[in-house]
Amino acid sequence: MAMNPNVEKALNDQIRWELYSSYLYLSMSSWYESVGLRGFANWEYVQAQEEKDHAMKIYQYIISRGGRVKLQAIDVPPYEWKSPLDAFRVSLEHEQKVTSLINGLVNLAIKEKDHASTNFLQWFVDEQIEEEGDAGQIVDQLKMIEKDGGSGLLYMLDKELGTRVYTPLTTATPPGSQ
Ligand code: FEO
Repeated sequence: MAMNPNVEKALNDQIRWELYSSYLYLSMSSWYESVGLRGFANWEYVQAQEEKDHAMKIYQYIISRGGRVKLQAIDVPPYEWKSPLDAFRVSLEHEQKVTSLINGLVNLAIKEKDHASTNFLQWFVDEQIEEEGDAGQIVDQLKMIEKDGGSGLLYMLDKELGTRVYTPLTTATPPGSQ
């Protein structure tokens, strides 16, 4: 059965959003490198890789349903932020926006009675809880650090964020491997 064209289009739009997310976090990573916060840079670098995986998960799904992937232009992300707190506030707002887009996609899939897509999108619904939670937690920590005016605490958080390790998603199947 051919893929529902409205869902197919919306999923293609979401690939662009996920790739933009990857671009945004890679830009943040490079900014952290430029201000000497290498742990923060690592954390955002891993985040950028995960966002690309999110895009590829949708890419593979469209193909598995016999749909057509149509890649789109990706916006230029911001380049500089005022502080780590400023950058993480932007991240949190961005993730809230992505959550609303995912919810919109679920609503569309339900409206179009596309049960396979409704099911597929549940992974993203769950993932967004983690995405918003992580960004929100770091915003709270940075607010506390700002209040205490402690660069020692910022150094400790930088060290902690430096331990994040990228784990590739195993669900995406490269062409020709099945
Ligand atoms: Fe792919 Fe951060 O949402």
